[in-house]
Amino acid sequence: MNIAVRYYSRSGNTKALADAIAKAVGEPAVSVEAPEAPLTAPVDVLFIGGALYAYGLDRHLKDYLQTLKKESVKRAVVFSTSWLSKHSLDLIKKELSARGIPVEDGTFYAKNRPSPDELRAAADFAKKYL
Ligand SMILES: Cc1cc2nc3c(=O)[nH]c(=O)nc-3n(C[C@H](O)[C@H](O)[C@H](O)COP(=O)(O)O)c2cc1C
Repeated sequence: MNIAVRYYSRSGNTKALADAIAKAVGEPAVSVEAPEAPLTAPVDVLFIGGALYAYGLDRHLKDYLQTLKKESVKRAVVFSTSWLSKHSLDLIKKELSARGIPVEDGTFYAKNRPSPDELRAAADFAKKYL
């Protein structure tokens, strides 16, 4: 099974979730800004996360989502952090669906910096999709 973990994070909150998920699935968590972010082979599961900034997604994440192809991603699993709103989950899902990529209904969300319990829960959540 091919798995990838990608995220965008300005202050480390979403990165913390990405790192917990990555550790659970045995793949690196890669920022969408990193040179190795583009998928070089099709994946069965793409874990993809980002936060909400002024009611929207950051341009880096949006741009990355728009590079994804349905031929390269069998299904996506979305995670996010924010101060209050879970709208980022819907925005990410919408971008993926618009590209014909199947998205799991289940998502993982934490308010701002995830607690140790939330990081453990994120790891358990990720393992369900293996
Ligand atoms: C410029 C800015 C705008 C934000 N706008 C929102 C917002 O509209 N709604 C919300 O719930 N949280 C908002 N937040 C809070 C972030 O989504 C939250 O702190 C998130 O965990 C940051 O994730 P990161 O550390 O991965 O960048 C905002 C934060 C910043 C810095």
